[in-house]
Amino acid sequence: MQTIIARSLLNLKKNLKNLKKNQKVGLVPTMGCIHDGHLELIKKSKKLKYFTVVTIFVNPAQFNNQNDLKKYPSQEKKDLEILKKYDVDLVFFPKAKQMYPLGYSTYIKEINFSDILCGKYRKNHFSGVLTIVLKLFLIVKPYAAFFGEKDFQQLFLIKKMVKDLNLGVKIIGIPTVRDSNGLALSSRNKLLNAKGLDIAKQIYLNIKKIQYLDYKYAKDLELYLKKKLKKSGLNDIEYLEIRNSNNLLHPKKVVKGKTLRVFIAVYVDGVRLIDNYKLN
Ligand code: PAJ
Repeated sequence: MQTIIARSLLNLKKNLKNLKKNQKVGLVPTMGCIHDGHLELIKKSKKLKYFTVVTIFVNPAQFNNQNDLKKYPSQEKKDLEILKKYDVDLVFFPKAKQMYPLGYSTYIKEINFSDILCGKYRKNHFSGVLTIVLKLFLIVKPYAAFFGEKDFQQLFLIKKMVKDLNLGVKIIGIPTVRDSNGLALSSRNKLLNAKGLDIAKQIYLNIKKIQYLDYKYAKDLELYLKKKLKKSGLNDIEYLEIRNSNNLLHPKKVVKGKTLRVFIAVYVDGVRLIDNYKLN
């Protein structure tokens, strides 16, 4: 099957109209610079025999920092080659003007979990994410949509939005894909030089040790990990917090097997990297 490329809403809708009645659509929203993490989501959708729609859109509404938006890498030609190789059925490249036409003023706001962790430091970030994801759901009308656990808070909030707004889209979470050093794959890794990558790998090397550390209180464990990370060259930690995966609450005590997870955001050479790791 040939990969269809749609660059306008009209063209996308025309192509989706041609689908057979019982053909389920699997949606994989991305901001491009496709890597093996994105491909894991795509492979899962293909495996489930869904008509797989990948969207590539660097969503301005989720960037609180204009410089970050400007710096965000893009490689459209290479992305298309990869997506064709993986037999993606349709690639949609929305244009900012079509997604947010002049005078656009409607945004989604989740009020309980959007101002913690990443949301605390990136004002309105999750409002931007939820707004574009909802728009894509309404435009593409997928049966299922795929998101990575790498952005755990994002996945959590999207599941919450689907439940709260009765959207009826099946959300499938995919475990974080890492490189051979354990560094979580991210389009932003492209912005790092060899030295930066060497420091960045210390994130995983340190947080995975959480399994073996015996601390009674979450606060103490967080302090210990922060100290370790700093010693490994990660000086600019935005946050490092232990939270419960099920409700994102901060636990007082560390109880293993209680779905606790460590969440981290750090800057390496000015590049913001995030990761999370489950404490078994
Ligand atoms: P982006 O960072 O391009 O990621 C697209 C999807 O790929 C997200 O669901 C993300 O969690 C997943 N992903 C990224 N790196 C991954 C990895 N190493 N392992 C597994 N999955 C990974 O997240 C976004 O774009 C945007 O916020 C978006 C949802 C597209 C809305 O604009």
